[in-house]
Amino acid sequence: MNFPGVLAYVLAFLMVNSNVAVAQTFPQLAEQKLHEFSSVEAPSDSETVFELNVEFPATLGPKPFYPWEAIDFTEDPEEYMNAVKAYILADTDLVNRDFAVADSKRWFHAPWLRREPVHGLTLERRSRVGELWPGQPDRIQNWAVSFYNDRGAYTVGQVWEDPAAPNTEAARFPIGALGFKLLFTEATDEQVPYLSGSKTWEAYIDQTSGQNTEMRLLQFDIAVRDSRADALTGWVFGTFMYFDKTHQETDFSWDNVIPVTLAWGSDPDLLQLNYNAGATPQESWTNDEIGNLFAEVIRTKENGFDSPHLGLFGRANGPVDNPRSSCVACHGRAIDLGEARSDEYWKEVLPFAPSVGASDFEIQWFFRNLSPDEPFLHEAVSLDYSLQLQVGVRRFRNWQDSLTSLGAFISYNAAVPKGDELQEYLDRVNQVEPFIPERGGAVE
Ligand code: HEC
Repeated sequence: MNFPGVLAYVLAFLMVNSNVAVAQTFPQLAEQKLHEFSSVEAPSDSETVFELNVEFPATLGPKPFYPWEAIDFTEDPEEYMNAVKAYILADTDLVNRDFAVADSKRWFHAPWLRREPVHGLTLERRSRVGELWPGQPDRIQNWAVSFYNDRGAYTVGQVWEDPAAPNTEAARFPIGALGFKLLFTEATDEQVPYLSGSKTWEAYIDQTSGQNTEMRLLQFDIAVRDSRADALTGWVFGTFMYFDKTHQETDFSWDNVIPVTLAWGSDPDLLQLNYNAGATPQESWTNDEIGNLFAEVIRTKENGFDSPHLGLFGRANGPVDNPRSSCVACHGRAIDLGEARSDEYWKEVLPFAPSVGASDFEIQWFFRNLSPDEPFLHEAVSLDYSLQLQVGVRRFRNWQDSLTSLGAFISYNAAVPKGDELQEYLDRVNQVEPFIPERGGAVE
């Protein structure tokens, strides 16, 4: 959030919420921000309006036996994935209401993400020319919304228990925590024929147009905290994609959302040399039909691609993801730096993928198998593979940092004080005149 943005925000808040200009305390503002997810309203003719569910469970019940726990993911990855998918889709309340979860007691969202207002989608990586299908145009936008089950949401709630001071040390997900993500693309079925018949959603992705864009379901991601993955990462990551082989479907069916790949480790020793000699990932599985389609039809040399795979040297990854990265490795980078840092700093210390022409050392380092409490950078706190927690905490820290610079409104020199000290501090802050903005600005 930029400086005028903060001013406008504070002013708007004061005007809406009180007749006299009384400053809100920092925790009150933080609590309000936790429930905010968009700065624009959905167009009035939208098919639905997103409602955020951040009423996280305060306690963790005993773990039930989940259907996927009966299946060895290294032996039967497809069966494991289908069990997770069936578990999600069996919640008819969720599915019949088209994944609108606001009053569901079972599914939850991560706070502090910047979402469009119709389905709560966040902007994902754009697809480059031809990445999804030969000739598909450049910079196709992809947007997604993710959900946590109760066990995942319990941990998210522990981190955000105090909305004014996220406790990132609490980011250790229990066995049975599950996250899933529906990823929609603006590519049409003319541009990408295997999308014909896919589920469509409207989304307000072009927020100057006043109109929704029709999006198609392309990718369906899952992340499961499974004790049998403890030896490597603690997590199993997988993706399905909508795939109509006939290119003629008219009706959507979940049967056409098929398993593509599943990973429980990053294969740190899969390097250029052994890849050239024919080595393949041992800590993931990829569906041959889809793997071959990408290798032989879509990401071919003739079509201008350096690599035929979804992830680096064949590692597990989805069609919209960065092909030099992988699910598990990119998520292994989920950390909190404990303070606001510039975008440039983040980019430098936490790249999304190894650089082009990376050394073996860099590749091994990027694709390390980290346990849930092992941070990607040693000076950071691990966020246990949750990138939604990372994005949210990072935005919170930037916002807090912007407020800090509002000196007269709220003046922090150091970290947010806790407990009694915080109350004392806020009492002091409340006696300070509210800062009167001199310039307007867009609220983020
Ligand atoms: C290059 C980085 C990158 C890669 C590769 C990647 N993701 Fe993510 N993923 C993200 C980011 C960033 C978020 C959070 C922000 C958002 O959802 O908008 C996220 C969110 C998610 C979530 C929601 C829960 C969470 O951890 O935040 C799931 C589930 C998920 N991804 C699964 C996958 C799967 C499965 C794959 C591989 C098929 C994958 N991701 C590949 C960057 C990546």
